[in-house]
Amino acid sequence: MPKKVILDVDPGIDDAMALCMALFDPDLDVIAVTAVGGNCPADKATRNVQAIIEQIDPPRWPRIGAASPPDHRLPVDGRYLHGDDGLGDVKFEVAELRTRHPSEKVISDAVRSAPNSVTIIALGPLTNLARVFQRDPELSSLVGQIVISGGTVKGPGNITPAAEFNIYCDPEAAREVFRSPSTKTLVPLDLTNQIVLSYDLFNRLPEESTKVGKFLRKILPPAFRAYRQQFGLEGIHVHDSIALCAAVNPELFAFREMAADVETMGELTAGMTVFDRRRVPAWRHNMEVAIEMEEKKVVAELIRRLGGEPVE
Ligand code: BDR
Ligand code: CA
Repeated sequence: MPKKVILDVDPGIDDAMALCMALFDPDLDVIAVTAVGGNCPADKATRNVQAIIEQIDPPRWPRIGAASPPDHRLPVDGRYLHGDDGLGDVKFEVAELRTRHPSEKVISDAVRSAPNSVTIIALGPLTNLARVFQRDPELSSLVGQIVISGGTVKGPGNITPAAEFNIYCDPEAAREVFRSPSTKTLVPLDLTNQIVLSYDLFNRLPEESTKVGKFLRKILPPAFRAYRQQFGLEGIHVHDSIALCAAVNPELFAFREMAADVETMGELTAGMTVFDRRRVPAWRHNMEVAIEMEEKKVVAELIRRLGGEPVE
C-alpha cells in the first residue's frame, strides 16, 4: 500500500525537487501539497506549488492548499538562494484557481479522513502545522508522523549563526509543533549539509523530453549560480529532498531519540533549536533526529526517485 503523505512546502528550489520526486513515486500517495510562506511570501508559495504541478503534470494531481501570511513577522526570506519568485526567476505562468482552500484546512481534513495514517513531510516553516494544532488540538495525536526538514543539532545555522532557515522564519510555530504530542522526525541541517550535488547532476537528470527533465533544467541552473555566488560552492544542497528521502527510505538513516525545543526570544539565538544533551537530561524525548546517513545510497535514491540515470 502506498504511504499517504502531505507535503507542506515553501517552494523553493529544493522543495520543487522534492515534489518532483514524490509526485511520480508509486510508493507514495500524495494526498495534498500545501503551501507555506518561507523561501518566498505566502502568495508566491501558493502560486509556485501550482506552477510546479502544472509543469510536471504528475499522473495524479494532489489537492493544493493555499498559504496565508504568518501570524508573526517573517523576518527574512530565501530570495538570495531561490530567486525573487522562489523558483530561480523562471517566471512560470499559472492558471487562475477558481477556489482556494487554506493549507491548514486541507491538512486538517486529510488527517481527519485517515486518522493515524498520514505522514506530513514539512519542508518549510511550521506555520501551517502550528495553526492546525491551535485550531484543533486533538489533531496532533491523529497525525501518523511528521517529518521536518529543519533545525541544527551541533553545527551552525544557515540564516543566523544559531538558527536554521525554516525554524527561524516562524520560531513560535516551530516551538508549538515541537511541544505537541505528535510523532516527529527531524532531519537537521548538520546532516543535509553533508551532501553537495555537483554539476554531474545534469548528466543524471531525466531526459529533457520528459516534463520533469525539462522543468529541472530550468530551475536548477539558477540554484547552482546562487550557491557559487553566495557560498563559493560548486554544487547545491538539497535539504528538502534529503528529508523526503528520510521519510520514505528510513533504512538509509540512523536516528536518535532526543529532547528538543526552540528559542523564540533570543536577540542572537531566535529560531535556534536547543537539545537537552546533558548527562542527566531533564527534558523528555519528544522526537527522533536523523544523525547519520549512507550518503552515496541517499544520492542514488534521490536520482532514482527523480527518474534519472542511475548512479553507479
Ligand atoms: C531549508 O531552507 C530553505 O531555503 C530550504 O528550502 C530548506 O527547506 C534549509 O535550511
Ligand atoms: Ca523548503
